[in-house]
Amino acid sequence: MMKFEEKKFNIGKLVGISEKTIEEHLKLYSGYVKHSNLIMEKIVEMSGDLEKNTYAINETRRRFGFEYNGMRNHEVYFDSLSDGPSPLTPDTELEKSLAYLWGSYDKWLLEFKSIAMTRGIGWAILYLDRKEHRLINAWIDEQHLGQLQDCTVVLALDMWEHSFVADYQPSGKKQYVEDFFTNLNWSKVESNFNNAL
Ligand SMILES: [Fe+2]
Repeated sequence: MMKFEEKKFNIGKLVGISEKTIEEHLKLYSGYVKHSNLIMEKIVEMSGDLEKNTYAINETRRRFGFEYNGMRNHEVYFDSLSDGPSPLTPDTELEKSLAYLWGSYDKWLLEFKSIAMTRGIGWAILYLDRKEHRLINAWIDEQHLGQLQDCTVVLALDMWEHSFVADYQPSGKKQYVEDFFTNLNWSKVESNFNNAL
């Protein structure tokens, strides 16, 4: 049976976000990979007796979007914090698209940071809508609720409390968002965008 593979990331010292937080956070990511695989395995196992197990299979499958998107969201997040920070390159397709749609990079950033302050657990995400070739800012509840069909996640900011509370306290959410952008390796975001075009 095909299995989802846990990815490795080269995350060095970050501003504000401690090594301990990253270490613990990677364990959570590992849990999403394991559970994505577990759900697939359990469904195959239970499918041996469909008459008896249909309800259990369907309830197990219902959770797949949570585990799978938890895995993929975290891969984009950790990858964007890997290999050291780098700024957004001027005059690239990504930079030009942000400026075209929002007026300027700064205006886009202001909106994205304000989306990150949405109450509750979830993600601030920048998508590329592949059908229209346009960027979309969005909020995703949990890992999956509101994910946009046929759009590629270009940038993903984890706003679950486990990403920041140990280092910033609950009241430091805004500073965590600021530091995320200080630590961000924009070349990864540019690759995500270019690969999806
Ligand atoms: Fe997380």
